Amino acid sequence: MSWCAMRNVSHFRALKLLLFSQIHTCCRLEAMKAAEKRLPRVYVTRRIPPDGIKILQQSGICEIEQWDSDDPVPREELLKKVAGAKGLYCLLTEKIDEEVLRAAGPSLKVVSTMSVGYDHLSLDDLKKRGIRVGYTPDVLTEAVAELTVALLLATSRRLIEAADEAKNGGWGTWKPLWMCGNGLTQSTVGIIGLGRIGEAIAKRLKPFGVKQFLYTDIGPRPEVAARISAEFVSMEELAKQSDFITVCCALTPETQGICNKKLFSKMKNTAVFINTSRGAVVNQEDLYQALSNGQISAAGLDVTVPEPLPLDHPLFKLKNCVILPHIASATVETRNAMAALAANNLLAGLQGEAMPKEVPL
Ligand SMILES: NC(=O)c1ccc[n+]([C@@H]2O[C@H](COP(=O)([O-])OP(=O)(O)OC[C@H]3O[C@@H](n4cnc5c(N)ncnc54)[C@H](O)[C@@H]3O)[C@@H](O)[C@H]2O)c1
Repeated sequence: MSWCAMRNVSHFRALKLLLFSQIHTCCRLEAMKAAEKRLPRVYVTRRIPPDGIKILQQSGICEIEQWDSDDPVPREELLKKVAGAKGLYCLLTEKIDEEVLRAAGPSLKVVSTMSVGYDHLSLDDLKKRGIRVGYTPDVLTEAVAELTVALLLATSRRLIEAADEAKNGGWGTWKPLWMCGNGLTQSTVGIIGLGRIGEAIAKRLKPFGVKQFLYTDIGPRPEVAARISAEFVSMEELAKQSDFITVCCALTPETQGICNKKLFSKMKNTAVFINTSRGAVVNQEDLYQALSNGQISAAGLDVTVPEPLPLDHPLFKLKNCVILPHIASATVETRNAMAALAANNLLAGLQGEAMPKEVPL
């Protein structure tokens, strides 16, 4: 090869090298720009009502990853998927504790739960890490109050038991005292926890002819009480005087197991006990004893421990216990409103804006 041809080859090689290095630099810059532009990731732990997912998708401000199932996300999967997320959209079935927050890492800035109760969230750990929390009060108040009244009537007027008798051949002739229950007219209703739902229940029960509303709470709530003419009393007084007791308090360390032998033993034998708050406020063993030995007349539960309650649980064997599968907020409109509010809370949190409904930490 001539000297001239050799020089051309080496020029060509140098040019090729230069070109490769330029392309390489260019690609790296593009990759860096893309990483900068990548939207923050949010993890949604369940298939949620359409209004909620639409809001998240149309926002264009986050990349959504979802556990696309009607059943809860397995814990291992949650721990894996939450890593690196900036937002977490969860339901009451997910325990969001230190382990989840550790798995998420420092990127996590907001947790939004599609529920008004937040006993499944470890608030101390969230606060420590500066993570903001959204929840869904108000939008479910009416639906929960409505269901509570339905459950109270179904329990006190023995609707499930009576319908079963009609279907199963127990319906003989009309008998004066058969399937008699307790009426609301001239009754005293005791409310444990006079919050949004407690007040909404009282408003719905009043037209049934309730004579008196009593309530207990962490302290008197005169403004709310005045709206429904309710009287603040001790738990003991409430137990002694009430014909119906409805539990509407939040589950906290103080309310855990608050409805126990002590309460049931002071209640009237004719009294009806209703719980639509959280299962853990009730000592179920004590409730079972009170129902089976006639200490109280009947109980209606929308919430239990655990959920679902095992089919062989003794409470299922009692005719005077009506158990629903945690459906108090289950109307289509309400579930959509909850999903939408939780989505808006999440988006506001991602953008560092005020959330429509934020849990003060
Ligand atoms: N079954 C369901 O599907 C369903 C649906 C919605 C809400 N809930 C439950 O209902 C609860 C109440 O919801 P809300 O919107 O009315 O909340 P809220 O905060 O307005 O009311 C809760 C009330 O409980 C009171 N309380 C707290 N600690 C108490 C204590 N130690 N003793 C007595 N009262 C106490 C509070 O002061 C407050 O007045 C939620 O926390 C949730 O757990 C259940």
